[in-house]
Amino acid sequence: MDSDQAGVLMVPGFIGGELLRDAQQEADTKVAWRDVHSTYVNKRGLTIVQNHDAYALDLVRGSHEPLRDLTTLALVASEVVRFADELAKDIPTLKDWQPTEQSLHRYDDPEVGLSFHKDNLRFRRLIAIVALKGMCDLAVRDADGNVTYFATEPGDLVALRAPGLTGHADDRPEHAVLNLRTDDRISMMLRENNRPYDDIPGFDFDNL
Ligand SMILES: [Fe+2]
Repeated sequence: MDSDQAGVLMVPGFIGGELLRDAQQEADTKVAWRDVHSTYVNKRGLTIVQNHDAYALDLVRGSHEPLRDLTTLALVASEVVRFADELAKDIPTLKDWQPTEQSLHRYDDPEVGLSFHKDNLRFRRLIAIVALKGMCDLAVRDADGNVTYFATEPGDLVALRAPGLTGHADDRPEHAVLNLRTDDRISMMLRENNRPYDDIPGFDFDNL
């Protein structure tokens, strides 16, 4: 996760077995999906294409009521926090990483799930993405335009570097969700917002 590296850590088979099956079932049957398919121009002037549904929980300000029905997804989130604690033994800047947001995406377009972008600067240190269902590529593009494809399968964890992990001001990897190989693909993201009490322009939570 050093600044001179891609900024992506893949952990194949992070969860499996019953935990993965229950998480898939919960994501399929208990999540109140919201259609957010759109194409827009972001703050950097980049056109972003997103072909997915979304569901997002603010873990700081929002009601925790929805998590009563999403106990397996909450368990998966706690496994990710435990993993980050382990990682912090080697990466001290990661100490006490605590996600303030738990959100899910359900992609459905065979080519572009989410086009190249960098996650918002306010997300700190580590962005954790757990692949729950379906197969696709997480594509990472470096400053020279070279693209590396990471094929993700259900149960894999992908961690992306965010500001504050290294001494670098902004070494966020530019990434995209591409090449869906199944009817749909569901992933869960955990992110730590550095201003958890402020609204994020253009971003909606389902429990506020
Ligand atoms: Fe992203």
